Amino acid sequence: MNKLKQKNDGSERPIGVFDSGVGGLTVVKELNRLLPNEKIIYFGDTGRVPYGNKSKETIVHYSLQVAYFLMKKKIKMLVVACNTASSVSLPTLKRHFHIPVLGVIEPGARAAIKNSKNNKIGVIGTLGTVKSNSYKKALKKIRTNVNVVQKECPLFVHLAEDGWNKNKIAQLISDEYLKPLRNKKIDTMILGCTHYPLLKDVIQNSAGKDVILIDSGKETAGEVKRILEKKNLINNRNKTVKNHSVFYVSDFPHKFKEVSQRFLSKELKHVHKVIL
Ligand code: DGL
Repeated sequence: MNKLKQKNDGSERPIGVFDSGVGGLTVVKELNRLLPNEKIIYFGDTGRVPYGNKSKETIVHYSLQVAYFLMKKKIKMLVVACNTASSVSLPTLKRHFHIPVLGVIEPGARAAIKNSKNNKIGVIGTLGTVKSNSYKKALKKIRTNVNVVQKECPLFVHLAEDGWNKNKIAQLISDEYLKPLRNKKIDTMILGCTHYPLLKDVIQNSAGKDVILIDSGKETAGEVKRILEKKNLINNRNKTVKNHSVFYVSDFPHKFKEVSQRFLSKELKHVHKVIL
C-alpha cells in the first residue's frame, strides 16, 4: 500500500481540515475558539459537493485526493469535518496516513451517550451518513443496548447554504422531516451533518425543547485539542500570529466566501481555487 509518511514532531505545522464544501467551517470556527494559535489549512470540495448522495467508492476516491493534497502541505493532523466522508472514508484514510486522522462520528456519538438519560438517541444526517449506519455503530460500540432512530434530511444542506435557516419554510421542512422521530421519545439528537448547526433553532422547535442537540463538529474540535495535547503537538509558539489559516476550494471561490460569513461569522478574504 502506498503510505505517505510524515514525522509526528513539529507542533508548528498546520492542522488539515476537509469537508465536501463550506459546512466544515463550523468545525473551523470551534477550532479557532479552542486553539487560537493553530494554523488551519482547509479544503472545501465545492466543485463536487454534495457528497451526501454519492456512492461509497466515489466518496472514498474524493477523500483520498483531498487528503493527499493536504498532506503535501505538511499537516500534523487531518480532521475530516464532513460527516458523510467520515462515515465512509475514515478507515481508508487512517490506513494511508501516519498522522492522526479524526472524523466527526465518534466524538459526536460519545457526547450523545454521555447526555442521554433514557438511552433513546436520534441521528439526522445526509442519506450517505444514515445509510452507512456509522453513528448507529459508533453508539452501539459504546452502549450495546442503546436505541437509535435515524432520519436523512437532505434539504437542510441547501437551506443552510442559501441562508434559509430560520424562516417559515425551514421550519415546515424540519417539522416534516422530524415527524417520525417525535413519538420515539428520544432525549438526545445528533446533528450528524456539518450544516445542521445552522438550523439549530428550527430543529429544536421540531424536536421539542427537552431534546438535547449534539453538535458533532463542536465535539470534534474538543477531541482535536485532546489529541494534540496528548501527542505534544499543540502550537505554543505562534501566539502573535492571527488569521493565518489558508482556505482552498475546488470551484470558484465567490460563493464560498459569501457563505463563509454565515458559517464562520467573518468573511474570508483569501480563498484559493485548486484543481486536484
Ligand atoms: N458535509 C456534508 C456532511 O456533513 C454535507 C454536505 C454534503 O452532502 O456534501 O455530511
